[in-house]
Amino acid sequence: MREHRPLQITVCMGSSCFSRGNNRSVALIQKFLADHGMPATVELAGHLCEGQCKNGPNITINGVTYPGSAPDAVINLLKRHLPEDNPWTT
Ligand code: FES
Repeated sequence: MREHRPLQITVCMGSSCFSRGNNRSVALIQKFLADHGMPATVELAGHLCEGQCKNGPNITINGVTYPGSAPDAVINLLKRHLPEDNPWTT
């Protein structure tokens, strides 16, 4: 398997993003990573409000913020950033 750069996922845990879906999204991401064996190259973290509440809920992956990241779409968003030759995309 090729080496891949670390996948860094940060979930806004500010009150607006949290209540508008990130409370569920972070649980879904954690479950997905646990169910598929969390790869050592995935870093999941939270952060406080960054003043972009009106666009939330916000999730950032490798430095790119995805506004309006609804919980029902978050796993597909995550899969889009996993390497194509990984075992977690199915
Ligand atoms: S609560 Fe997420 S940007 Fe403000």
